[in-house]
Parts: sequence; C-alpha cells; structure tokens
Amino acid sequence: MSAIQPHGGTLINRVATGQEREALLEQAKGLKAIAVNNWTISDLDLIGVGAFSPLAGFMNEADYKAVVDTMRLANGTVWSIPITLAVTNDQAAQLSVGERAALVGEADGVVYGVIDIDSIYKVDKKHEAVQVFKTDDMEHPGVVKLFERPDTYVGGAIQVLNRPQPEKFNEYYFDPVDTRRIFAEKGWRTVVGFQTRNPVHRAHEYIQKCAMEIVDALFLNPLVGETKSDDVPANVRMKSYLALLENYYPEDRAFLGVFPAAMRYAGPREAIFHAMVRKNYGCTHFIVGRDHAGVGDYYGTYEAQDLLKSFEPEELGITPLYFEHSFFCTKCGNMASSKTCPHGKEDHLTLSGTKVRALLREGTCPPPEFSRPEVAKILIEGMAEATKTYTI
Ligand code: ADX
Repeated sequence: MSAIQPHGGTLINRVATGQEREALLEQAKGLKAIAVNNWTISDLDLIGVGAFSPLAGFMNEADYKAVVDTMRLANGTVWSIPITLAVTNDQAAQLSVGERAALVGEADGVVYGVIDIDSIYKVDKKHEAVQVFKTDDMEHPGVVKLFERPDTYVGGAIQVLNRPQPEKFNEYYFDPVDTRRIFAEKGWRTVVGFQTRNPVHRAHEYIQKCAMEIVDALFLNPLVGETKSDDVPANVRMKSYLALLENYYPEDRAFLGVFPAAMRYAGPREAIFHAMVRKNYGCTHFIVGRDHAGVGDYYGTYEAQDLLKSFEPEELGITPLYFEHSFFCTKCGNMASSKTCPHGKEDHLTLSGTKVRALLREGTCPPPEFSRPEVAKILIEGMAEATKTYTI
C-alpha cells in the first residue's frame, strides 16, 4: 500500500454494496427526495470513494463556517473549499434534522445516495464568495455558480448507492483505493500529482518532467468534471493526453487517471484542495505552478504557492513542488523559467490563450515550442467538431 496517509488519517469509504445497498435502495423509495445536479452528484461520489477524505458527507454548519472563515474543518484539519448540498427554501421547509433523505439525479431520476441530515442552515453567499473566491464579481465563473444555487444548505453523512457513469474513457477512472494499490504495485514510493483543466502544452510538460527527475513517477490527473464553457472539453483533452503520453513519456513512469470533479476556479484555495485530494489518491508530491486554478486576473501569479507555504508541512502532509512561470527561450533553445534563463522577455515565446485559440480555429498548429504537434492536431480536430456542433 502507498506510504502516504490520506488526509485526516483514514481513507473514507461511503459506497454501499451488496445487501446493505439493496436495503438502502428499498428504503430510499419511502424517503423524501432531494434533487441533485451533475456537480453535486460528482461531489457525492468523490466523498463516497474517499477522494475528499476526511469528509464523510456534505458539510454541516460548523464545518462550513470553519472552512469559509479559517480554511479548516471544525476539528482543525486543513480544508479550503466548502463541499455543500444546496436545497431550495421549499425543500428545506420539508426536511428535518435527524431524517434520512434520498439524493436523486434531477435529470435521470437515479437514486445516487442517501444523506443523514444533521444540519440545515442558511448561508451568506456574498460572504462565502469573498472568502473563497476573494471576489463577489459576477464575471468570475465560480462566483456565478455559487450565486445560481439556493442559499440553504443541508449537511450530513452520505452513502453512495449508484455511481455516475462516464460517457467515455471509462478505463481512466480510478478511485483512490485503486490508484494507491496501482502505485504500490508499480513500486513507486514517490508520485507527483498534476492537476490540469487544459491540454498539456510544453510549459506543463516541462514542469512535469522537472518533477519527474526527482520522484519515481507522474500521476497525470486531469480534472474532467464541469468546467467553464470556453475551456477545452474533457473528451478532446483526453485524446491529447493519450497522444502526448504515447509519444513523449516513458510508459513505466507516467500514469493517467481522471479527476471527475467540478472546477471551482478558486485559485489559491483550490490549490490547497487539489493538493489534499491528490494526497488521498496516493500522491506524495503535488505540482503548483503559475496562477494555479486561477481565472482572469483575480489572483496573483504565485498567490496559490504563497498560501500553501503559510501552512505547516505536516498539516498538509503532501509536498508541494513549486514552479515559476515557464516558457520557451529562443536564445537558450529550450524550456526555462526566470530561475534558469538570463535572457529578456523579447527572447521568450509567449502566446496568449486567445491567440492560440485563433490559430487552432483556423487549422494552424501553434509553434512546436508551444505545443507538441500531436497535441495541436487533436485540438484542431476538436475545434472543428465544436464549430460543426454549434452551427448545426
Ligand atoms: S489549472 O486551473 O488546472 O491550474 P492549468 O491546467 O493551466 O490550470 O495548470 C495546471 C498546472 O500547471 C497548475 O499547477 C499551473 O500553475 C501550472 N502551469 C500552467 N501553465 C504554466 C506555466 N506557463 N508555467 C508554470 N506553471 C504553469
């Protein structure tokens, strides 16, 4: 088994199986139903399989308040992002503390789980937004999502009864118990986790490979849950990761598995959350580069790194590996950062996201110093498909 302890000490397992599951499904027929969307279903599932250990359910009021105000659970364990179940006022009026309720998919009617309610509470979403996202600006994609939800939350331990089924790439879904076993079977004592919601460009590859020089292996763990509409869709990204791994990474030192969570775009706070979750998957190290989980210019380039550094190493329990903004330097003739390159900005290849998107849309590969041609080709195909879909 992996040497690293899960966050909080125990890997949570709240997935009911066998007769217990059958009995709960039967019982659920007579319970009040709380409708849950895909985002909440993914949170439920990730709690169930222990990716969000030590959480055993949606946050009650005490944990929620502690997380929002202090970045810790009520018992003091570091936790930076509220994981909550929002219900409408009408629904809340029908529910009581002490009761078990069914969590039913709003789109498909599937009973994904049950919750033993131990807290029903109203929240100040503006306060939550300012604390978690450092802004209540409705241009921020995480803030918009927060304000779309009702402001009554229901907390309590959950049990998962049905797992959400991926549409594609099933073979790259692993629970923490699986990745921990796999890393141990491969004999990897140190594994660096890499979070991404983007295609892996040369800068990403560079920092991954710098990390791979000092640890046993890379766990490429792209987030494939809900992202904002102008991020590259997960299915396109998955193809690009596979092409990249096949062509440029040693097979026995890199492992691809998805992180089926929603993206919050909470920058520094989300970096802490991302690190804790990767610890649960069995990573010993975690990469944090420039503007981790950031969006627009809401967060400073190294603010996520600074926040992680403000905690004691032993309370994080996973070693962050920090990287400076990386780029291709034409004078050096290689990837570099200000730590390794003496040349000026004029020698550095920089392309904005907008510029890259424009190139891809017109079917032109960005320079190979920015993106591997195998990756660019897949992104171009993905763009073409998307245009087709949208114009029909
Ligand atoms: S994120 O929202 O998932 O963080 P992205 O997929 O772009 O966005 O980044 C994945 C990781 O790579 C993050 O740790 C981020 O800080 C890092 N990163 C992205 N681009 C660079 C870069 N040019 N230089 C250094 N680190 C980077």
